[in-house]
This record gives sequence, structure tokens and C-alpha cells, in this order.
Amino acid sequence: MLLNPKNQNDILQSFELEFEYENKPINRFHIPSEQIDKSSLLKNLEKEISEIKDCELKNNSNKLVFSDGDFNSSIMIVGEGPGQREDELGKPFVGEAGLLLNKMLKAINIERNKVYITNVVNFRPPNNRKPEKSEINKYSYYLRKHISIINPKILILLGSTAMESLLGSNVKISKIRGTWKEIIINDKVYNSIVTFHPAYLLRQPEQKKYSWLDLKVIKKKIDLINIKL
Ligand code: URA
Repeated sequence: MLLNPKNQNDILQSFELEFEYENKPINRFHIPSEQIDKSSLLKNLEKEISEIKDCELKNNSNKLVFSDGDFNSSIMIVGEGPGQREDELGKPFVGEAGLLLNKMLKAINIERNKVYITNVVNFRPPNNRKPEKSEINKYSYYLRKHISIINPKILILLGSTAMESLLGSNVKISKIRGTWKEIIINDKVYNSIVTFHPAYLLRQPEQKKYSWLDLKVIKKKIDLINIKL
């Protein structure tokens, strides 16, 4: 039975509902402006990185590896830099270390596609060497911009390069892993935690026990601040 507008209002008022019935159709294609901004800001940042000049990493790689995952996620993960597979596919953490990362996330009930993943450097270092200090510093400018755009509630830094890029080189990963550290970018405070890089865990599997402790600390925070994934 179709209600005439007068009856609809009478019924709603009798329920004391605090909204008004609208006869206008809902625009189901509406994308909130914040999301439009995020995706265009990310595109601009990717373009800016693609135009980097005089960079040995860029000059020797195949693809720019920007990010993977959900840009609206409250969890952002930062690795070191692309490896061979990532350089071929243009996506971070798709090789062996990526498979282990997926398992680590799964161990605390997180599906990989529910987080946002990037790296300190966006081009593969020749022969998978560690990025040099000057490269880490150069790319840290872009990484900080990247973090500001994503605006995560939790930042997970995988390994010493990500740690160095955002927390400086005066810290030791064995000392600070598994503890929360604040990072300030453009006056905004981000909660970050450093844990071992999955590629390191593949080489030193006996360290996985510490990684598990860190994952439990991360899970506790996710529950505490009520992150829904
Ligand atoms: N290691 C990283 O740090 N990043 C990747 O994307 C792959 C391996």
C-alpha cells in the first residue's frame, strides 16, 4: 500500500523519529569529497615521484612501485623498497617477503587488502641493495606526504630502513621494536610501531618469536582504539 505524504508524516511523528522523510532519490554514486581528494592527492604524489630527477634507483628500475591496498584503511604499512618481483609487477610485497607479510597479518585476523602498503623508496635498488642514507632522506619527503594523505591511525614500520626514514638513525631496531612511538608530520601525531621486516625473518626465522610478540601488541592497539577492518 502506498502512503500519501500526509499519512507518512503522521506515522513518522507518532514514532517520534528524528528525521524527515525525503521524497528525493538517494544518489548512490555519490563519492564523499574527502575520498575524491585522497585519490587525486595520491595520483599527484605518484606523478611527483615518477618525475624525480637524477636518481640511481629510478634510472635502474623498471617500474615505479607506489602502493597497494585500501587507501581508506586506518592501518598503513611501510616496507623498505621493491625487490625483483615488485619491480616487475609495480606492486609492493608481492614476492616471498610479501607472502610472509600476508601470513603475519592473517595471524592477527587482518586481510592484506584491508590495509594500505607502501615502501620507503619507490624504485628497486640495484641488486636489491639497501637504500643509501641519501636515498632514504630524499624519499622520506615523499613518504611523509604519503602518510599525511592516508592519515592512518596506526603506522607499522617494517625493518630498519622504514625505522630510519621516519624515526632517524640514532635508534636500534632491537631496542625499539614492539613499542609505540609518536611521529609528527605537519603537526599531526601518528602512532607508529617498528617490527622486523619479513625478508629478515625469512633469513633469521628464529626471530619470528619477537615478531609474534609485536603482532600481539599491534592487535591489542587495534582493539583498544576500535579500528574496524
Ligand atoms: N621488501 C620491501 O621492503 N618491500 C617490498 O615491496 C618487497 C620486499
